[in-house]
Amino acid sequence: RSRAGLLELRLDAAAGRTQIGGRTATTLGYNGGLPGPTLRLRAGDRLRVSLRNGLTDPTNLHVHGLHVSPEGNADNPFVMIDPGASFDYDYLLPQDHPPGLYWYHPHHHGLVADQVFGGLYGAIVVEDPDPVDVARERLLIISDLTLDGSGRVASAGRAERMAGREGELVLVNGQLNPTLGIRPGERERWRIVNACVSRYLRLRLDGQAVQLLGLDSGRFETPQDVAEVLLAPGNRADLLVTAAEGTAVLRALPYDRGSMGGMMGGTARSTAEVSLATVTVSGEAAAAASVVPRRPAARDLRAEPVTARRELILSMGMGGGMGGGMNFTINGESFDAGRVDTTVQGGSVEEWLLTNTSPMDHPFHLHVWPMQLLETNGRAADSPPWQDVVNLPARGSARVRIAFDDFTGRTVYHCHILDHEDLGMMGVVEAR
Ligand code: C2O
Ligand code: CU
Ligand code: CU
Repeated sequence: RSRAGLLELRLDAAAGRTQIGGRTATTLGYNGGLPGPTLRLRAGDRLRVSLRNGLTDPTNLHVHGLHVSPEGNADNPFVMIDPGASFDYDYLLPQDHPPGLYWYHPHHHGLVADQVFGGLYGAIVVEDPDPVDVARERLLIISDLTLDGSGRVASAGRAERMAGREGELVLVNGQLNPTLGIRPGERERWRIVNACVSRYLRLRLDGQAVQLLGLDSGRFETPQDVAEVLLAPGNRADLLVTAAEGTAVLRALPYDRGSMGGMMGGTARSTAEVSLATVTVSGEAAAAASVVPRRPAARDLRAEPVTARRELILSMGMGGGMGGGMNFTINGESFDAGRVDTTVQGGSVEEWLLTNTSPMDHPFHLHVWPMQLLETNGRAADSPPWQDVVNLPARGSARVRIAFDDFTGRTVYHCHILDHEDLGMMGVVEAR
């Protein structure tokens, strides 16, 4: 950080060596690390990133969840940076940008899953103006990958891409099963990113008191006691953990995200339980932490007039021609960067019914504008949360409202199973 209000940095996307579980692995990474550097910002800040492409394929950069312009050299998903070239991004966060945990990753259509699976991801923290009183804050970036016999990141075959690839190794901050030490009674804030390409994380930390402060950019008025938290790919959780003596394991429990229903014979996984990290609580007991102050209620779009309603239908179907494969579509169309699928009026509030006709879950993500999740499968949420990735259960639906404030320009919405996005389950939205 060179001075207040401006963060400038250079990101080099390149292949490199790293140690994973005692093995030397060749992965991709930003600035030689896995994950990339954490960017810490405040509302109203300007962020300038000079991205150098040291890969052998095109890439670009997306700041997932940030409410910034989609145009020019801000969060423009249509930028393409050739191997060896650089691009200067310049983002301005509005003064009222919501605090929270966001992340960055490449977004070059067709290569997103390969590049994120390879190791290109990092966290962005937009600091709280009034931080919660905690002993410490931890950032846990969860990703997965598979290494082949020579320590390289394995490539995914056709069936794996259609199901959505899941890595054999599930990493926390680039490490296998790290140990986290806490003193009894201490309260910590854990900010967790699901940076996996396709894996859902049904997180549990048995034996410890866990409270949820919020998901994605959304925050609750008061922390909610939770036994588990489900993060679809792309989602983030903001947790408070109050430590009790003993050893606990942060686990990802099996989650059934459906299958291709016999269409291709493949099955989606996330079925095995994984130990992500070991928490050891020992030492002298800490004094009890103070009560978390109540947060002001978030904007509630249920109280605002809706300007337009539309339905987006996510489908998987047998592709035409020899060689088969599946089509991954939204409203019957595969992604085409040259087509605008949805045009919205700047300043309007829209209601979108998101319907999933397929036998697999799809996590729906919209860039730039967060969504308020009113209902899932027709069941209304009592205090509808703000999220930027909303899970659409297999043969289910979700209803969201979106306020198209602040920005005009073109961006995208897509399935955040990044293999599905690369296979075409993405559309273009233009705000005028
Ligand atoms: Cu995290 Cu368009 O993606
Ligand atoms: Cu995004
Ligand atoms: Cu999908």
